[in-house]
Amino acid sequence: MQRGSFSGRIGFIAAAAGSAVGLGNIWGFPYKVSNGGGAIFVLVYLIICFAFCLPVMLAEIAIGRASGSNSVGAFAKLGFRKWRGIGMLGIIAGLLIFSFYNVIAGWAFGYTLEMANGNFGIADSFGAFTSNVVKIGIYGAVFMLITALIVTQGVSGGIEKASKLLMPALLVMIVALAIYALTLPHAMEGIRFYLLPDFSKLNGKVIMGAMGQAFFSLSLGMGALITFGSYVGKQENIVSSAVIITLADITIAILAGFMIFPLLGFITNGTMNDIPQGPELVFVTLPHVFASMGEPYGTIFGTCFFLLLCFAALTSTVSLLEVPVSYLVDDWKLKRRSATWLVAAVIFVMGIPSLLSAGYSANLTNFIRYPNHEKHTDFLSFVANVANDSMLPLCGSLIVIFASHIWRMKNMDAELALGNPTYQGSLLQRYMRIALPYIIPFILLFVFFTTVYKTFF
Ligand code: PHE
Repeated sequence: MQRGSFSGRIGFIAAAAGSAVGLGNIWGFPYKVSNGGGAIFVLVYLIICFAFCLPVMLAEIAIGRASGSNSVGAFAKLGFRKWRGIGMLGIIAGLLIFSFYNVIAGWAFGYTLEMANGNFGIADSFGAFTSNVVKIGIYGAVFMLITALIVTQGVSGGIEKASKLLMPALLVMIVALAIYALTLPHAMEGIRFYLLPDFSKLNGKVIMGAMGQAFFSLSLGMGALITFGSYVGKQENIVSSAVIITLADITIAILAGFMIFPLLGFITNGTMNDIPQGPELVFVTLPHVFASMGEPYGTIFGTCFFLLLCFAALTSTVSLLEVPVSYLVDDWKLKRRSATWLVAAVIFVMGIPSLLSAGYSANLTNFIRYPNHEKHTDFLSFVANVANDSMLPLCGSLIVIFASHIWRMKNMDAELALGNPTYQGSLLQRYMRIALPYIIPFILLFVFFTTVYKTFF
């Protein structure tokens, strides 16, 4: 059976950047910056993206392209069947992530419609909005349907095409929104908080937070880039592509900050006191900001903002769906269409408890109380804690250990040098030779153990 492939370099970059750019950039990044003390978090984040995440990305893409196989089969194709468990672990993490990610994407979709109707009051009834499970369920189902329709169209005809359309649209929207936000009163106080680091705020929590955020935002540790890498031609330069994908992801996150921090400066009259530090930033605070812009600016800005969020989420859900689909198509010989609808249905059902955990079901909303935590954690956040914060670093470290110690650096170097003759002997290669086998896996394992210990024990 003919496997799909990207039509060229731009297609791969658009799809992989589309996977990376998502809710993590526009919804997650700004509130984590706010939570992590502002600019210092941004600085640490940038260092981590290049020093630790880029090498992991290169390893994933190299494994994918060298094997020409999905994220499970890749390990077997390279001659190490026993290591397929890493791929399976990644698939499970991806399914869990997708199950709650789709719920949040459904909220974004619902908010786009509310904003278009000028209903800013939604901000004060966010709880009521998320408890209206029939409505939100339908929004989520629509989102899943669109994702699945794209994935059934295949790699170049579906995923690549959608990304090539959505990513430039997203860029234009975010730049326009950021420019407008910068013209608001007190925008500069927001920017100061965002860009001038206060080194006294640097601590372990900031570093760990930035690490987790960077890993999730770059879609690492669950085989998305192994899968996408397997659709890349041998003549392509995957090293420069990975640099561009990383830059694109960072740029969109940074631009999201340029859009949101001026808004926070505006709404706090420049004091930046008590700015929201949690997930409510986008769904509760921003609609208030839009309301105070007056008409028609509020409606236009609000609708564009949430549409932007939907576009970003869509290219990510596409990649989350493609990973298991690719596995079922390659290794279980399912037809792409059947595999897609099957996985989409399973994930939608898996997401139902998360859907119910934002107010509708008391048991799921107060799902668990971690030791030493005052408040209960809802089911959706619990799944995120397990999948994003714990499984991704674990799986990421195993992928890196596999690439550098089992498959071996020599083979990975050769793969990275295909389409990039200057790679051998380059500074990056020399850095990779030290960082990949001896530093990065231990950092990731450290992140894994600390997160598990701090969260669950
Ligand atoms: N990177 C995506 C985001 O930032 C989420 C994602 C994680 C997508 C893992 C695919 C795989 O929203």
